[in-house]
Order: sequence, then structure tokens, then C-alpha cells
Amino acid sequence: MPRIAYVDGAYVPLAEAAVPIEDRGFQFADGIYEVAASLNGRLFDWPAHAARLRRNLAELSIAEPMGPKALELVGRTLVRKNGAAQALLYIQVTRGNARRDHPFPAAARPTLVMTARPFDYAPRLRQQATGIKVLTQPEQRWGRCDLKTTGLLANVLAKQAARQAGAFEAWMIEPDGTVTEGASTNAWIVQPDGTLVTHPADRKILPGIMRDTLMRLARGAGMKIEERPFDLAEAERAAEAFITSTSAPCLGVVAIDGRPIGGGTPGPVSRRLGALLWDEIERQTGYRPAG
Ligand SMILES: Cc1ncc(COP(=O)(O)O)c(C=O)c1O
Repeated sequence: MPRIAYVDGAYVPLAEAAVPIEDRGFQFADGIYEVAASLNGRLFDWPAHAARLRRNLAELSIAEPMGPKALELVGRTLVRKNGAAQALLYIQVTRGNARRDHPFPAAARPTLVMTARPFDYAPRLRQQATGIKVLTQPEQRWGRCDLKTTGLLANVLAKQAARQAGAFEAWMIEPDGTVTEGASTNAWIVQPDGTLVTHPADRKILPGIMRDTLMRLARGAGMKIEERPFDLAEAERAAEAFITSTSAPCLGVVAIDGRPIGGGTPGPVSRRLGALLWDEIERQTGYRPAG
């Protein structure tokens, strides 16, 4: 089945989908995006994704191209047109197409683009069992990492360095050793007493939707959570470490820069949290990966 994209009001073959080269998304990375999982045609945690997208647009004074209900309808229609039972829905909104000049254009209309990429979560279950490796990288991003902007060059470079080193994810390290988050995931450690620790949702990290959902489930299961900065030395001493994101719900970290974490295998806390998340994913969407 040929893949279909949505570009500014039209469903078009992905290979022909295009925006003008003066679009500010291309010229300045002047835009934001959102990624939600569509499982069995249902968008997991959609209200939270729609709220984050709305907040991002408001923070950057980009007009909303359509309301959350219409956005959901277009997203679901696009997934259906792509015939994908399991997909990642990418929504991108830029400030629009205008003559290249830094200040906001007076009359530009925001550009709305969506794609639906078939996505198989089964490999994630295998990674959940084996764990993943992390490579540390210097934090080189800007001062508003809470905004999900398309300006991802520092994240791209960090992820590439990780993959070249045989690691799945890069952790961003500030000059004082603080671990902020991953290149495309939130970072967590587990203290020996079982307390979960993750960076506070301030301007230094993206407030991940999976981070929030995991927090809610963990609290519901009676676990203690500390939202505070932790540094690399503390991570290396931790009982466990793990990452969360929409496309990698909860994966145990078994090594950082080649040094084993905990027992060098995914620990019981991250495995339990992974199980809680899959239960929640199944509760909302009816989907559970085979494996
Ligand atoms: C920098 C960064 N942090 C965290 C996340 C996790 O966010 P979510 O749980 O909403 O997928 C992402 C997701 O792409 C990200 O890019």
C-alpha cells in the first residue's frame, strides 16, 4: 500500500508530498512537532499529546492550524489511509511559508504536515528483555528543551555518536555532570531503596508523555518518585537505570559508556514498570505486541 502524507489540507502520496523551500520550518527550524502512537486505530494518550502540541504553539506564538478534535480526526484518517494497524503519527506545524527574514512574517499561515509511519513494537519487547546501552554526550542544546521544536541537530549528533559506539541512546551531560535526558527519550535511575529519580520537567528537558504516564502508574503502584537532577556518578552507582518515550516505552539501561549498571541486565523495577505500561497501552488501545 503506497504511503500517504497530509500536507496543508490534502492527502497526497508521500513521495510527492512537499512544502515550499521558503517554509520557515526548512529555513529556520521555526516549527514544532508531536509524535503519538496509533495502535489498532486508537491514539495512545492523545489528550496529553494534543495539550503539549497546543502549549508548544502558544509558547512560540504560532497560530493553531486546527483544534485538537479536527487534528485527531485528520491523524486517524491518515493512519487509516496508510493501512497501518500500528503506526507512529508525526504532526509538524511550522510558522509557514514567507520571504526569508528572521522576524515573524506579518501574514504567514502555519504549515501543517502529518505522516504515519508503520511501527512494530515487538523489537522493543526484545530490547526490554536484553536492555540497552547508553553513551554519554555533552549537553549542547539550547535553553528551551521543554519545547518540542524541529531544531534537533544537537539531538541528531548525539544519537549518531551513540549508534556509532554501538549504543541505543545518548544521555546529555551538563558541565557539572548532571544528566538531563536522552537524545529522544527521558532518563531515569532507580535508587537501591527502589525510589525512582528523574530530572524535573523544567526548561532543560522535554516533558515526555510516557514519562508522565509512567509516573502516574508508578505512584499508583506505591512507588516513590523524586523529580530532581541526578549526575553521572549517581547513575553509575544506581541499582537500575531506564529510558522512556512513546516509541521506546520503558527500556532498562544495562551499561553507560561501557560500564555495567546494576547487575548489567534490566532490573526488576524497570521490568515491572514496563509491564505496567504495556497493561496501560492495552487498556487504552487493545494492543499488546506479540513476544
Ligand atoms: C528530547 C526528548 N526527550 C524525551 C522524549 C520522550 O517524549 P515522549 O514520551 O512524549 O515520546 C522525546 C521524544 O521524542 C524527546 O525527543
